[in-house]
Amino acid sequence: MKQIRIEGNHTLKGSIEISGAKNSAVALIPAALLSDEDVVIDNVPNISDIDALNEILKYLGAKVKRNGSSIYIDSKTIKNKEIPEKISSKLRASYYFMSALLGKYKKVEMYFPGGCSIGARPIDQTLKGFRALGAKVVEKDNRFTITAKKLKGTNILLDMPSVGATINTMLVAAKAEGVTVIENAAREPEIVNVATFLNNMGANIKGAGTSKITITGVKKLTKGFTEVIPDRIEAGTYVILGALVGKKLRIENIIPRHIDMLLSKLKEMGVNMIVGDDYVEVSATKDIKPVRIKTLGYPGFPTDLQQPITPLLTQCLGESVLEETIYENRFKNIPYLNTMGSCISISERKIFVSGPSNLHGAKVEATDLRAGACLILAALKAEGVSVITNVEHVLRGYENIIEKLTNVGAIISIEDVG
Ligand code: EPU
Repeated sequence: MKQIRIEGNHTLKGSIEISGAKNSAVALIPAALLSDEDVVIDNVPNISDIDALNEILKYLGAKVKRNGSSIYIDSKTIKNKEIPEKISSKLRASYYFMSALLGKYKKVEMYFPGGCSIGARPIDQTLKGFRALGAKVVEKDNRFTITAKKLKGTNILLDMPSVGATINTMLVAAKAEGVTVIENAAREPEIVNVATFLNNMGANIKGAGTSKITITGVKKLTKGFTEVIPDRIEAGTYVILGALVGKKLRIENIIPRHIDMLLSKLKEMGVNMIVGDDYVEVSATKDIKPVRIKTLGYPGFPTDLQQPITPLLTQCLGESVLEETIYENRFKNIPYLNTMGSCISISERKIFVSGPSNLHGAKVEATDLRAGACLILAALKAEGVSVITNVEHVLRGYENIIEKLTNVGAIISIEDVG
C-alpha cells in the first residue's frame, strides 16, 4: 500500500504540463485490436490503468512496445481467448475489449469489468447495443459469452448518453455490415478521439461529438496513428488547485474549450485567471463567491471534477450546493474532508458546503481516484501535515503527480507502507 504525505499551505508557482487523457487512452488501446495492421498511439499517459490494459493485450498475444509516451501495437498475433476475471476486474475500461473482440471475431468471453466503487455502474446499454447489432449475450456468474453469426447495422437509441456504451457500440459497428445510427450518444471529447482514430484506420464514422453518430461498417481496418487528447480532468484538477493555492500557476498543453463549464463556474466564483489558447493561468483569490453545481454529461459539469472542486467550495464565502446526477455513491470523500475541517453535509445526491473553512492536516483515505485527487488538493491548502492512504487509486489516473506538484513548489512525497 502506498501513501502520500503533504505539508500544506505553500504557494504553488510555475507550470504544470498536462498528460494524455486517461479516458481516451483506455479506449484507444483496445480499439487498436480492430486493426489488421500495426498502430501507433502517441501521448499515452504513464499510469497504472494503461499498464493493466497492456497486460490484457499481451495476454491475448499482441506485441506491445512503449517508447516514451508512444505505444506501438501489433495485434496480428493475437488469439481470441477468454479474459479472466483477475485481469478484467482491474479497471472499468477492460470492457472495451468486449466490443473490440466482438467486432473483430464475432465472439468474446470475459468477465464483468472493474473500476472505482462510485455506484452500481451497470453495462446494460453496452449489451443493448451489442444485441441490436445481432449479438447473443449469455451471462452467468459475472461471466459473459457474446457471439454473433453476423453483425448488422441498425438504429440504436441509448437510454442515457453513456460514454462506455457509445464507444463500445461504435467499435462493434465500425466492422458490422451496413449503417448503424446511435442516438442519444454521449458527446465527450474522448469519443471524438476514438472516432478519429477509427477513421484514420479506415472506418467511416460521422457525427462523433454530437448526440447522433452514424457509422457505416467496413470490412477491414488498416494501419493507424493517433494522438491522445490532453486530459481535461487532470487539467481541471490542477486549475482548481491553482484557484486554491496558486500564484500565476500555469496549466499547460490543454484544450480550454474542454473545461469550459469548469472555467465558467470559476469565473462565477470570481477566481483570478487568464485563459490562453492552450493554457490557463490561475491564482488563489480571496473572497470567492459560493456557487451551485450540477454534474451532467459533456458539455455539462463533469462528474469527474465534482470531488476535486469540493475543497475550493470550502473556501467560498457562504453556502455552495453540489448535486451529483451521474453516480449514486461519489461522496465518500466528504467525511474525510470534514475531518480536515470543512463543514459539509450530505443529503441524498446533494452536498451543502458552508464556507469559508480553515482546513488542517489529517490522516485520510483515498477511497477512489477522484476522491484521492480531492484530498490531495485539500491537503495542499490545509495548514500542517496530511497523510493520504490508499493512493494506488490516484496513480491509476494522474501521471507523475508527485513530480508535477514538487516542480511547482509543493512539499509532497510518496511512500510504500507494505
Ligand atoms: N449507465 C447505465 N448503464 C450502462 C452504462 C451507464 O445505467 O450501460 C449509467 C451509469 O451507471 C452512470 C451513467 O450511466 O450512472 C454514466 O455512465 P457512463 O457509461 O457514461 O460512464 P463510464 O463509461 O462507465 C466513463 C469514465 C468515467 C466517467 C464517466 C462519465 C472511463 C473508463 N470512465 O465511465 O471516469 O466518470 O465516463 O463521464 O472512461 C474517472 O475517470 O474517474 C471515471 C470514473
